[in-house]
Amino acid sequence: MNILLIGSGGREHALAWSLSASPLCDKLFIAPGNPGTAQLGENVPLDVTDHAAVVAFCRAHAIGLVMVGPEAPLVAGLVDDLQAASIKAFGPSKAAAQLEGSKAFTKDLCAEFSIPTAAYRRFTEPGTAKTYIHQSGAPIVIKADGLAAGKGVVVAMTLAEAEEAIDMMFGGGLGEAGAEVVIEAFLEGEEASFFALCDGTTAIPFGTAQDHKRVFDGDKGPNTGGMGAYSPAAVLTSELQDRVMREIIAPTLAGMRARGTPYTGILYAGLMLTKDGPQLIEYNARFGDPETQVLLPRLKSDLVTALIAACDGVLNTISLRWSDDTALTVVMAAKGYPGAVEKGTEIRGIADAQALPDVLVFHAGTKQDGERILANGGRVLNVTALGRNVAEAQRRAYEAVEKIDWPEGFCRSDIGWRAIERERG
Ligand code: AMP
Ligand code: GLY
Repeated sequence: MNILLIGSGGREHALAWSLSASPLCDKLFIAPGNPGTAQLGENVPLDVTDHAAVVAFCRAHAIGLVMVGPEAPLVAGLVDDLQAASIKAFGPSKAAAQLEGSKAFTKDLCAEFSIPTAAYRRFTEPGTAKTYIHQSGAPIVIKADGLAAGKGVVVAMTLAEAEEAIDMMFGGGLGEAGAEVVIEAFLEGEEASFFALCDGTTAIPFGTAQDHKRVFDGDKGPNTGGMGAYSPAAVLTSELQDRVMREIIAPTLAGMRARGTPYTGILYAGLMLTKDGPQLIEYNARFGDPETQVLLPRLKSDLVTALIAACDGVLNTISLRWSDDTALTVVMAAKGYPGAVEKGTEIRGIADAQALPDVLVFHAGTKQDGERILANGGRVLNVTALGRNVAEAQRRAYEAVEKIDWPEGFCRSDIGWRAIERERG
């Protein structure tokens, strides 16, 4: 069959790598794609906000499956419009994507179905929100309800910071996303991510990961979209994973079904492993970036078969096989990220890095210029390696990073440190 993949980041390069390797995939199109995906299929300049144009493209190219990478098209209802046109599409409906699109929606679902999460209240104006934080005390967490490109959460260590966040959000600092605010209790513990493939009724585990959000070594500096990740996350033992499936994922699926908005797609649970057990921090209605770049290299089963089984509601008929290896990815970013960066600088040595055993270089913000690859964004490359453990995967990934000649770029030098300390015991 022909497959259309929507998106253009490192996550989509990793997805394209798995999709194009499937015996079921005849031709892969990526809209809009990047120079990495161009090596695996055909990049097409579709306007994915124009759903009628996407439907027309699918008809013209006999697309048998559409895989949606990022959250924005999901929240905009692209999957609903494709399905209405009888085109198979992987990802949640607009109503089900509210699990990512609205923090208040998710918190209310947790309350209704007894899913462990931080205690919370919802607010639509600053006065009552400030009264509440003064009653609760700091630290406390202030969250814009809607999608805010990673800027919608403020973990306030003082009441002054919390007040500032409330004023910023209700003052329109995040646009419509901040029209409603959720305030929740501060959770203590280690963070980890858990992924489940869902068909509305059945969920099957789809791996675990941990990422590094801070820009500098030692987890210092401002938050980013993620500077590196590894999978599996050993901290999520099989007992804890069973508990996450039972206490968090299963009741979420049951609750979404009971509400008439069954969840189909990848459910990405951001967890806090507290002394009282795993608690849900947030859901994403899609694959993670850069988590996908470490999940998919470990998948031994056919991704297309799994995605179609989810679309068709028959996940109970398949099982997935995973490599025992660990995958680790190092994000190479343009200097200045997560602030302003220079674009157009040349990157050399990608082929040399790729040539190393068990190494995959995924493109994120790159641009093809004739034979040259240029930086075209903040996070630019994901240098991924497999190894028998985190330490070996880390060593291989940094050997590959050494091959990349890009003076205007940088990366963290300690991705995986926490897991390596754990391996050393
Ligand atoms: P979110 O976008 O909801 O994942 O939040 C972004 C980050 O804020 C998370 O990865 C956590 O590090 C932190 N965070 C969110 N909610 C809480 C909470 N209730 N307690 C402590 N940290 C939190
Ligand atoms: N790496 C975080 C995310 O994809 O949301």
